[in-house]
Amino acid sequence: MDVIAAETAVLEAEGLTKHFPLPASGRELLGGHARVVHAVDEVTLTLHRGRVTALVGESGSGKSTVARLLAHLQHRTDGSVRLHGQEVKVRGGRKLRAYCRSVQLIFQDPFASLNPVHTVRYTLSRALRVHGHAGRSRAELDQALTDLLGRVRLTPAEQYLAKFPHELSGGQRQRVAIARALAAQPEVLLADEPVSMLDVSIRLGVLNLLRDLKEQLHLAVLYITHDIASARYFADETLVMYAGRMVEGGPSETVTQHPAHPYTRLLINSAPDPERLGTGFGEYDEDGELTEEEDLGEPPSLVTPPTGCRFHPRCPHVMERCSTETPPRFEVPDPDGAPTTQWAACWLYANEEASAA
Ligand SMILES: Nc1ncnc2c1ncn2[C@@H]1O[C@H](COP(=O)(O)OP(=O)(O)OP(=O)(O)O)[C@@H](O)[C@H]1O
Ligand SMILES: [Mg+2]
Repeated sequence: MDVIAAETAVLEAEGLTKHFPLPASGRELLGGHARVVHAVDEVTLTLHRGRVTALVGESGSGKSTVARLLAHLQHRTDGSVRLHGQEVKVRGGRKLRAYCRSVQLIFQDPFASLNPVHTVRYTLSRALRVHGHAGRSRAELDQALTDLLGRVRLTPAEQYLAKFPHELSGGQRQRVAIARALAAQPEVLLADEPVSMLDVSIRLGVLNLLRDLKEQLHLAVLYITHDIASARYFADETLVMYAGRMVEGGPSETVTQHPAHPYTRLLINSAPDPERLGTGFGEYDEDGELTEEEDLGEPPSLVTPPTGCRFHPRCPHVMERCSTETPPRFEVPDPDGAPTTQWAACWLYANEEASAA
């Protein structure tokens, strides 16, 4: 693939923050501070054309909230989002509609996201019309429908068009949901655990489809998952979230084979089934570090999150400053001195220069 095109930043988020207000208690009503859930704090990420970026973290770490903020389904508390360098404002207007066309979200549960009373033909025709891609005649619409179903490998199209969601398998339903997203001719796909509700045997097929689409259509894909093993297999780059904050990022191979942040290491050690998805994840067992399955323990409260590094109460390497100062991103040096883009928000990687800055 064209290397330069693949490097193009499409969607950038900086300092993305979402705090959900909690119902006020009596004392707060009398003038105390209103309490909030710190669901997402200062998340910065870039999605590139033709690249899959995995966003990995345990339940409640804020992954779906990041996706909803990027899709403008929720208002952000703070931070900025830019599409092709253009700031996207939270409220209304033509620019926002164009943005929502370009940035499409695919949900975990295709059964819930497809209307059960509509056929595949209705669902996809409507999406094509809404986005102005339905053509000017019945023949053009039929061609557009055939093309869409062909893209998600539901062929021959006639076999699927008259079907209702309950007449399809889970994998077929998710393919229809993907086709509906493609009807907008998007540049970015935000896939929120797109295969976690599917039978293990068909997950790989859907992931491979997403990967092919990314290559054919040069899509920038955000792949949200609990499963760091699938991130290694499927994503070019992997970002790790813990308790609303991003803690590590870099090329998927590096982050999964040489995790830097103590939380990422714990996440990998607690991966339940190293062999699934054919990732060769079992290799970990041989290098000594990753033989034992570890318990992830309880995630912290997001109403009163730990000060400093949010992982410090569970961290085996905790130092004094970890409980008071939030670590910035530090470059993780490559053991062979090669150039690297791996980073970790962890004081273990602070060097003199960076900590002085
Ligand atoms: N509308 C809301 N109001 C209040 N709190 C919310 C709301 N939506 C999410 N949260 C909280 O924000 C935090 C992050 O939730 P989010 O759904 O983003 O996590 P997640 O990483 O997607 O989890 P999962 O892996 O279970 O899908 C959680 O503590 C959740 O309870
Ligand atoms: Mg989620």
